[in-house]
Amino acid sequence: MAKVIEQTDEPEMVEKMVKDHLNRGIVRKGHPFKNFVLSTANGTEVESRMVVLRGKENTPFILTAFTDIRSGKIEHIKNTPEVSCLFWHPSSKLQVRMSARAKIFTNDKRSREAWEKTTAFGKTAYNTIDIPGAVLSRSQWEEAELRDEMDDRFFAVLDFCVCEMDVLQLSRQGHIRAQFTYSDSGELSTSAFVIP
Ligand SMILES: Cc1cc2nc3c(=O)[nH]c(=O)nc-3n(C[C@H](O)[C@H](O)[C@H](O)COP(=O)(O)O)c2cc1C
Repeated sequence: MAKVIEQTDEPEMVEKMVKDHLNRGIVRKGHPFKNFVLSTANGTEVESRMVVLRGKENTPFILTAFTDIRSGKIEHIKNTPEVSCLFWHPSSKLQVRMSARAKIFTNDKRSREAWEKTTAFGKTAYNTIDIPGAVLSRSQWEEAELRDEMDDRFFAVLDFCVCEMDVLQLSRQGHIRAQFTYSDSGELSTSAFVIP
C-alpha cells in the first residue's frame, strides 16, 4: 500500500488522514488499524495488550474499545486513567501513538447500547463464570464455562480521550513525523512537524 503522508502535506492534512485510516480500521476486515496496543500503568507496573478498535469520534477525538470489567486493565485504568494507544500499518510503514485519558462505562446507557449491537459470539467473551486471568485447576486446556444467563453485567465500554498524537511515517524519500495536541474538550489545539 502507498504512503499515507506526502512531503507536501500540511500537518492538519496528516491529522485528517490518520483519522480516516482509523475509520477504515473500524469498518474494514483485516485493516491493520482494526487492533491496537493499549498500554496501562499501575504504580511501577506497565502492561500492554492488543484490543479491537470499536469506535472513533473526531471532535472530541475519542477511541473506543470493549472489555470485561473484571479484567486486569480495569484496575490499572481506575488507578491511572492515563494510557497509551499504539497503531502500526505495516505496508504504509505508518506508526501512530496516542496519549489518552480512559473512561469506563459499565451498567449504564452507553454500555447497554453497545451491548445491544454486539454479536452473540462477541457476547460470550464477557460471560465467562471465572474472571479473565483465573488459573485453571487442570493441567489440560479447558474451554471457559459460560454463565447460563448471558447478560451485560461484566461488559464495559472504554473511551480513550486523546490528549496527544505522534505520527511517524517511514520512507526512503525521508521519514515524516508530526505531533498534535488536543484541548480538554478534545479539539485539535496544536499541530507541527518534528524531527523524526
Ligand atoms: C488481536 C487481539 C484483539 C483483542 N481485543 C481485545 C479487546 O477488544 N478487548 C479486550 O478486553 N481484550 C482483547 N484482547 C485480549 C487482550 O489482549 C488481553 O489478553 C486481555 O484483555 C486481558 O488483558 P488484561 O489482563 O491486561 O486486562 C485481544 C487480543 C488480541 C490478540
